[in-house]
Amino acid sequence: MAKTIAFAGKGGTGKTTLAALTVRYLIEKTGRPILAVDADSNSCLNEALGVSVHTTIGKIREESLAAIRSSGGRPGGMSTEELFNYRVQQSIIEAKGFDLLVMGRPEGAGCYCAANNIIRKYTDMLSDDYPFVVIDNEAGMEHLSRRTTHKVDVLFIVSDCTVKGIKTAKRIVDLVAELALEIDQSVVIINRAKEDEGLIALAKEYGLTLAGEIPDDREIFDIDLKGGTVFDIPESSNCKKIGYSMFDTFIKI
Ligand SMILES: Nc1ncnc2c1ncn2[C@@H]1O[C@H](COP(=O)(O)OP(=O)(O)O)[C@@H](O)[C@H]1O
Ligand SMILES: [Mg+2]
Repeated sequence: MAKTIAFAGKGGTGKTTLAALTVRYLIEKTGRPILAVDADSNSCLNEALGVSVHTTIGKIREESLAAIRSSGGRPGGMSTEELFNYRVQQSIIEAKGFDLLVMGRPEGAGCYCAANNIIRKYTDMLSDDYPFVVIDNEAGMEHLSRRTTHKVDVLFIVSDCTVKGIKTAKRIVDLVAELALEIDQSVVIINRAKEDEGLIALAKEYGLTLAGEIPDDREIFDIDLKGGTVFDIPESSNCKKIGYSMFDTFIKI
């Protein structure tokens, strides 16, 4: 069974950046197979990791449904499920040190729930084949209430340095408890931190488990802006050092 690390939190807080940095961390620390899952229909985890995406679960679903419709039920003699399993296997993007599965955006008026349920099912199935799974979730809490995030060892909830970010983190922690989700530990990271704004005190007041703060660093922003990846973040980066020490503490390889 894989050790699963997931990211949640308000939009724009750095979930994708930190999920990608976790993939790099695990590659460097373990050298073992990692499955990265982009479960945000709007996200670009692939870009942060420097790989291009040839297909997504959303696309496969639509193509499979079309194939089934046009073949009167059994395309190529396969059952719907067989066809789908086969296509999902084909859609896994193999990169150096990790594989990537992308949920994508259903085209047209498609429902996100279907693609979400599929990604959950396959993430669970594939968990048996990888010692580590890293999931980059969409912003907000729908993935939690729909129970698309589950069986997680560490849920990193990323906040920016605003009261709103911390309040969102608190709501996520409460929802995890309320829904009794299978999440072993929920940990808050305050990212893009500036000078002390009393947010650590607020997080403590809310009873949140805090990993600490990662500073707002122009270098991280610029790498992303110029189309770079987390592998371009230099060894000397303070953000990388702080991130890695948080991962050391909470991922516990
Ligand atoms: N510690 C940081 N310092 C400066 N910029 C950051 C930092 N972490 C992330 N960013 C930048 O913030 C923006 C949003 O990050 P992203 O990871 O896409 O957030 P999310 O996935 O939560 O929407 C990106 O431009 C990213 O480069
Ligand atoms: Mg993102």
